[in-house]
Amino acid sequence: MCGIFGVINGEPAAPKLLEGLRSLEYRGYDSAGIAMVDPRGSAPMTVVKAIGGVDRLADALRGRPADAVLGIAHTRWATHGQPSVDNAHPHVHAGIAVVHNGIIENHAALRASLGAAGHSFATDTDTEVIPHLIAVHRAEGRDAVGAIAGAMQELSGSYAIAVVFDDDPDALVAARKGSPLVVGCARDGAYLSSDAAALAPYCDKVLALDDGEIAVLRRDGVELRRPEGKIRIDESRWAPARASTGAATRGAFAHFMLKEIDEQPDRFADTITANLKAEIPNALVEARRITFVACGSSAYAASVASAWLEDVAGIPCKVEIASEFRMRRRIPGEAHPVVLISQSGETADTLAALRLAKEQGLPTVALVNVAASQMAREADTVFETRAGKEVSVAATKSFTAQLAALAVLCLRIAVLRGSIDETQARLMLADLRALPQHIATVVAGAGKIAQAAERFEGARSALYLGRGSSAAVACEGALKLKEISYVHAEGYAAGELKHGPLALVDTAMPVVVLGASGPVLEKTASAIAEVRARGGRVLHVTDADGAAATPDVPHVVLPRMTGPAAAIAVPVLECVALQILAYHVAVARGINVDRPRNLAKSVTVE
Ligand code: AGP
Repeated sequence: MCGIFGVINGEPAAPKLLEGLRSLEYRGYDSAGIAMVDPRGSAPMTVVKAIGGVDRLADALRGRPADAVLGIAHTRWATHGQPSVDNAHPHVHAGIAVVHNGIIENHAALRASLGAAGHSFATDTDTEVIPHLIAVHRAEGRDAVGAIAGAMQELSGSYAIAVVFDDDPDALVAARKGSPLVVGCARDGAYLSSDAAALAPYCDKVLALDDGEIAVLRRDGVELRRPEGKIRIDESRWAPARASTGAATRGAFAHFMLKEIDEQPDRFADTITANLKAEIPNALVEARRITFVACGSSAYAASVASAWLEDVAGIPCKVEIASEFRMRRRIPGEAHPVVLISQSGETADTLAALRLAKEQGLPTVALVNVAASQMAREADTVFETRAGKEVSVAATKSFTAQLAALAVLCLRIAVLRGSIDETQARLMLADLRALPQHIATVVAGAGKIAQAAERFEGARSALYLGRGSSAAVACEGALKLKEISYVHAEGYAAGELKHGPLALVDTAMPVVVLGASGPVLEKTASAIAEVRARGGRVLHVTDADGAAATPDVPHVVLPRMTGPAAAIAVPVLECVALQILAYHVAVARGINVDRPRNLAKSVTVE
């Protein structure tokens, strides 16, 4: 997490640094800071920090010297030390200012040894040791790159750093290990950022640093170094700077989340089209089993899709949480493909899981929404979702786009394996292609769902129940609720209710039951009866005639799905309804839906 931006060109750096930071706030927004170097100023280095978002930093910058043409900036998601001005980056020591994304795992040991050598520290952060280490190596007579290389040898963990020196107004230096960092060239100078998309408005071409590389940015370009010397840049490493698709403005919508919910029909349809022609590797077609690895919502998308792959393509699937999978020493059993799912393509645990799978010689497949992401660069095969840029922290359109891609891939793999024939696949695909219009119907019915959200008034905890792939949708619905409304919620396979969670039910507890028409509707009705008998506030989400199936219970009514791909369509529609529900509960509680507390859009630390 954390966003880094840096610039050196012929114009005042501050406006560009602020603008760059604004496009990175999805990575963290608890505090922000900036360091600029200008030898003509009263002091060679200006450092300004503020708690809160970039607007607060802009306020703090007013009236401060702003002629510097070189600077670095940071927007923070706290790991070590609470959000405060002291803990905000840049961290400065001996005229060396550093911004950092990642975690320095041995910071306590480094603090102790630096402390014993007379260094003192002013913050609770892991980052603060970095300028101290660089200063130590500079005092040995090394130049800026040599001092940073020396510091890198002592740091363990993951990091992307950008550094400015108050005695060098002509260069900024950056380095990475583990965390992403991209440099860019423009006609008027050079830029850097933790996200290539943030460089698109300024740069013609961008280059992602490899682990261990150090970049020196000057007005006339970028030079790459490793501790052992200069690197000739292979021109093919430069890529054209591309903005991410989907405008990052919310137009007339009250929140980005609402806009992103509304965009789902189009994004779902685009993702289907994009994956119809994508080449499918033999590893997937011939797989005797598949392991999905992901975090958060992406892991729930994997759970939904694994039920489809088992039913339609007959491939046994396992879903593993990336932070657990990555800790394995070995993955037993025969070689089989590992499918990594990630909206951002840079979630630290999922990336580490990908690297582990590669080390073990397993074929890797990444499904990402950001085509230029690290996972897309490293996986053997890449499939894309076409959700466009998702700004709100809560995954909405990226989740349904993952389901769209996984549904199409599932059908195509099933045909290639001979599990279904072309005719069946065509009929199911026609169903999928019709799904965007049904998603639009659910979105259009948001007013009714908003009324249903009143069942959450005063609630401190909620249960979500579903069966089959809807059990995973229940977990996703519960995650959506807790992350944006701060109401505790759990998702369960409905059959588990009486094995424990029923003890929680009282008159204050909303229980959302996903129960579509079909063979399990009756069983769902029993679960609803059990909850009602304890006074729970049931909400039945269904495409069935709810009034007949579960009378006297409020319903969220979904379009009726009867086609051959109904088992794929129903969870998608349920999921959209639960997004809208969570949104309205959060709005009623006055929460900043797009930026819930303590979270960030992209989780680039372990
Ligand atoms: C979902 O609403 C969350 N914001 C979160 O769980 C997210 O899905 C998770 O962090 C994984 O992110 P990724 O898809 O970018 O890897």
